[in-house]
Amino acid sequence: MHDPVDSSGFDEALERAARLVRASQRLAVLTGAGISAESGLATFRGAGGLWEGHRVEDVATPRAFEADPALVWRFYNLRRANLAKVLPNPGHHALVQIEQRFQDGFTLVTQNVDGLHQAAGSLNVLEIHGALRRVRCTGCGRVEDRGVEALSELPSCRHCGALLRPDVVWFEEMLPPGVWSQAERAVQRCQCLLVVGTSAVVYPAAGLIDQARRWGARVIEVNLAMTEATASVDVALHGPSGTILPDLIKRL
Ligand code: OAD
Repeated sequence: MHDPVDSSGFDEALERAARLVRASQRLAVLTGAGISAESGLATFRGAGGLWEGHRVEDVATPRAFEADPALVWRFYNLRRANLAKVLPNPGHHALVQIEQRFQDGFTLVTQNVDGLHQAAGSLNVLEIHGALRRVRCTGCGRVEDRGVEALSELPSCRHCGALLRPDVVWFEEMLPPGVWSQAERAVQRCQCLLVVGTSAVVYPAAGLIDQARRWGARVIEVNLAMTEATASVDVALHGPSGTILPDLIKRL
């Protein structure tokens, strides 16, 4: 166990984090909605969060989609439309620079469905909760990238005519198995896991932090606030990721 560093010693904590990153051959990153907050996308929990305005069980479960697909699609169409208005922020760009430094030894695991890591230029990205730009046919299973194109409330498959659904993971659903096993492998093999902008309450994603620790990695957390993970990380850096990640790069 390593004591997390108090934010009062921020400069020292930043230096410790930089040392951990420099000492690693393989780095994994786990991101959540917080990294996209400075791009203007709402997070899920807390004041003004997406789950404050919507009940999860009404818009993000298979049962909700069966009961009222138009309502679910209205929610996702709004989120898809928002994507057209946002750009990656300095936090996303900093992770691109870190990837360039590590090259093959870098894996970015994201819970985000907004595609902003790829828009910034990150290459090795594992989207464990799916992607808002993609749709999946409930009939033939085809997956298609429809970008931010406006879809109807009940969009249908161009191939078989069945109802489309967003290609995102809903509560009570399995994570895509191939992508998930790659994420597990990355955290098991890394020497350092950087956890950015996630409340670390949604499993199995949050379990990647415990896995990394069990396999011997050091863990750095970047978050505006304390989270479920803070007590068990090696270094906690409290503040906006759009400022902290660029600062971290300067120290590498
Ligand atoms: P949450 O909304 O649970 O947490 C967002 C985290 O980001 C919080 O810990 C904030 O303190 C932090 N945060 C906010 N702004 C920040 C900033 N500028 N810099 C750094 N940190 C910031 O979002 P997630 O942890 O991503 O799943 O939520 C996990 C999953 O729950 C999502 O993928 C989604 C949701 O239900 C599914 O839809 C399957």
